[in-house]
Amino acid sequence: MAAKIIDGKAFAANVRERVKAHVTRLVEEHGVRPGLAVVLVGENPASEVYVRSKGKATKEAGMKSVEHKLDAATSEADLLALIDRLNRDETIHGILVQLPVPDHIDADKVLAAINPAKDVDGFHISNVGLLGTGQKAMVPCTPLGCLMMLREEHGSLAGKEAVVIGRSNIVGKPMAQLLVKDSCTVTIAHSRTKDLPGVVSRADIVVAAVGRPNMVTAEWIKPGATVIDVGINRIEKEDGGTRLVGDVDFADVSTIAGAITPVPGGVGPMTIACLLANTVTACCRMHG
Ligand code: GUN
Repeated sequence: MAAKIIDGKAFAANVRERVKAHVTRLVEEHGVRPGLAVVLVGENPASEVYVRSKGKATKEAGMKSVEHKLDAATSEADLLALIDRLNRDETIHGILVQLPVPDHIDADKVLAAINPAKDVDGFHISNVGLLGTGQKAMVPCTPLGCLMMLREEHGSLAGKEAVVIGRSNIVGKPMAQLLVKDSCTVTIAHSRTKDLPGVVSRADIVVAAVGRPNMVTAEWIKPGATVIDVGINRIEKEDGGTRLVGDVDFADVSTIAGAITPVPGGVGPMTIACLLANTVTACCRMHG
């Protein structure tokens, strides 16, 4: 039987409506408008698309949106000075530095300079530690969006076998932490995993976040499993154009999975919705 397609776009629209209603209440009842600052260094075309859609969504939710587009040659010191200014700006509740940053800038140092209370990406080492110890943290947006869809699909995740493919700080590791917190039995698989298809085929829940187009095929998947595809890969079509595909071979895997997210229209929209939700959370905690 064909898998249920998880409509991330519709789910995200719902989250964004709730965020917008919350923003309206904050403005009308407390005189506070949540503000998000997005910082982009250099001219990465993919990053520019992400930053534009983040800014548009922020405004649509009724929040203050500030974009800082810095030249690729911007020094680390100048970037740190901007972050310091944003940290002290009371109209800004969330700060996001789009990654990757150019090679001459130390990304870890930049992330560490963001006030953890404004770290809506959840990448600051103190938020990473809070999440890892099960405390109240800012949770990275992409894994948070995946978790919301999984909870909606399954209700309780307790006791489920989950395999996360990919060990990045942005997705794989925090995703695994969230699944452990929801009482899954979690495996993080990666490029050095032996018998990757065998490991994945044990899973009730598969989260693919490796950046390899169409890598996961039907033979890897336990019948009825839920498959969340975090990959966004641009590949060439036969007619010379390009199209976006995930890390999962959608046509193949949807013949055996129980539920699956499409690319585009799955995880991507949820990431932006969670960024808006995190900004409202940061604002509420700050004005507590
Ligand atoms: N680059 C790719 N994904 C992300 C993300 O979620 N946040 C930031 N800041 N940069 C990214």
